[in-house]
Amino acid sequence: MEKHTNDTAPHYRVLFVCLGNICRSPAAEGIMRHLLRERGLTDRMEVDSAGFYGGHAGSLPDPRMRAHAARRGYLLEHHARCIGAGDFERFDLVIGMDDANIDDLRELAPDLAASSKIHRMTEYCRNYPHDHVPDPYYSGADGFELVLNLLEDACAGLLETLFPDSSCTKD
Ligand code: 4NP
Repeated sequence: MEKHTNDTAPHYRVLFVCLGNICRSPAAEGIMRHLLRERGLTDRMEVDSAGFYGGHAGSLPDPRMRAHAARRGYLLEHHARCIGAGDFERFDLVIGMDDANIDDLRELAPDLAASSKIHRMTEYCRNYPHDHVPDPYYSGADGFELVLNLLEDACAGLLETLFPDSSCTKD
């Protein structure tokens, strides 16, 4: 799963995946980039996001998601794109948000090695019992706040899982 840049520094390539790639997965990407910077780990992980529905391809994240994220200090600058089978070669971990994402990823994975890279975002949550990150697109402000709570928890948990000795902040 990991690529070693030298004897002691594992490097991971992580892809977050949702349906539209304008709410949940770009928020996960933005939160993870923020945490990596905060913890001095930017050279240890490559992060990207993608979606199954191409209708928003090329767009910045949903303005509601950007506004809620900005209030917590996250700048979301990703431009939406569709996931492809080639992403299973480029990434070590391919992380879906809900049952439909996981089903679609299993269908897209070209072989067993690719399937083994599929994970569910909430498996990394430490503080929330939720088994998926709900689609906020047709929700109100509470839906977007819940998504950010879950993603912050899961991103921190994922970093703890991958870099157990690096959970302290840099400064
Ligand atoms: P996301 O949310 O999967 O978290 O990006 C959605 C965004 C757009 C749509 C559905 C979900 N849509 O149907 O356009």
